Amino acid sequence: MTKTTAQQLIETRRTIRTFNGEPIETKVLYDLLNSAHHAPFHNKVEPWNVYLFNGEGKHVLLDALEPAFSEMAEPQREKVAGHIRNAAACLYVTAKAFETEKGNKDALLATAAFIQNLQLLCTEQNLGIVWRTGGVFDDARMKESIGAEGETFVGLLQIGKYDEAAIPSKKPRQSLDAHLAIFE
Ligand SMILES: Cc1cc2nc3c(=O)[nH]c(=O)nc-3n(C[C@H](O)[C@H](O)[C@H](O)COP(=O)(O)O)c2cc1C
Repeated sequence: MTKTTAQQLIETRRTIRTFNGEPIETKVLYDLLNSAHHAPFHNKVEPWNVYLFNGEGKHVLLDALEPAFSEMAEPQREKVAGHIRNAAACLYVTAKAFETEKGNKDALLATAAFIQNLQLLCTEQNLGIVWRTGGVFDDARMKESIGAEGETFVGLLQIGKYDEAAIPSKKPRQSLDAHLAIFE
């Protein structure tokens, strides 16, 4: 059976971690975010917030990370900063705080759906994207510095144009049958 466009998009999406230095216009990212913003959510308001650092704007992110960087070993710091510099843009994505455990859980889940929407939209536009969750990005001083105080860090998304060689081989996946129970 011929796969639909959506099936092909979902199945061919790959995490891209190395970018080629070409810039991306903020308007392009804004339009993709505007579509990703149609993700499902169960809180009273859309639970995600996005802090977009594009091009020179990444210096704001690097500066905000400085207190955390100063406590890290040089090689680790350089690795994290290098990833930020290599991307055309970085998106710091958070879930807003809600009053109940259920509210916070729904917010987190919906924000993950928002991120996956964006990953698929980037894939469609041949823009590479990696969803990072490494510890340094949860730093409270960093959050305060960019205005994300009290929010739950969900991902730092690094986006950029890429060359063919940057596409990793497909991560092996178990058969669906190992994860599916059918009752009919
Ligand atoms: C919740 C989540 C957190 C992730 N965190 C990281 C990360 O911190 N660093 C990283 O390089 N990749 C991260 N990834 C990307 C995964 O490693 C990647 O999706 C996985 O290797 C499968 O590859 P694929 O996306 O190409 O299918 C994360 C993915 C998810 C869904």
